[in-house]
Amino acid sequence: MGLLNFTKVITFLSRKLTNSKEPSERIKIRGHRSFIGGGTSEAWYGHGMFVYHFLIKNGLKSTDKFLDIGCGSLRIGQYIIPFLETGNYFGLEPEKVLIEKGLKNELKFNIDQLKKPSFTSNYEFDFSFCPEYDVALAQSVFSHLTINDIKKCFISLKKISKKSSLFYYTYFDGDSSWNPKGSSHANKTWKYKYDQLKNVASENGFSSEYLGDLGHKAGQKFVVCKFL
Ligand SMILES: C[S@@+](CC[C@H](N)C(=O)[O-])C[C@H]1O[C@@H](n2cnc3c(N)ncnc32)[C@H](O)[C@@H]1O
Repeated sequence: MGLLNFTKVITFLSRKLTNSKEPSERIKIRGHRSFIGGGTSEAWYGHGMFVYHFLIKNGLKSTDKFLDIGCGSLRIGQYIIPFLETGNYFGLEPEKVLIEKGLKNELKFNIDQLKKPSFTSNYEFDFSFCPEYDVALAQSVFSHLTINDIKKCFISLKKISKKSSLFYYTYFDGDSSWNPKGSSHANKTWKYKYDQLKNVASENGFSSEYLGDLGHKAGQKFVVCKFL
């Protein structure tokens, strides 16, 4: 076996070993940026900025109530929280330590004390901390979820949606038969066909519009859903 192949095997085995650990352990090993896929400067600041500009270009206003589903360690929040008016940012992230690390390390000048973002931590898509939203986002979240968890997300989201609400999500396009077996996992990849996701949205009263990858760094596709 050549040195390159040997290195690849070691990297694969070490990733597999790390992925078998609980999320809290994986965050300790990888760090709060790498855990959510933002390990390089480009993947952290560049991608955060890309999504921020995407939202502004699509009409996000500072007066909007914004729900960041799976907000992680605030890769997008670092831009959106300062932009929004006080009290308008709502972040759901099941791994509480990611929010804590994001607030401590990624927001400067204690901007959270001024902008007063709200957070909650659960894996059940319990959005009760956010009574309603104008714009919601699940960026690089469905790419780590089983179809059942995606259904749960839509079922919960419809409870706090209004006619003018917009929900943007990203996903990896591909053949689901290769998806991992077992539970959702933040460091494993799930792929779907657009129609599968569109059907789940439709069953819960949402229309869908496919927007394409728009230059997404990881090649994920954007979709916007409206609550009918
Ligand atoms: C790849 S990261 C993306 C984080 C963030 N959206 C971003 O783009 O920086 C996926 C995030 O989804 C979170 N997640 C996993 N299961 C979830 C669930 N059931 N509900 C909400 N978030 C979940 C993970 O903890 C992780 O922070």
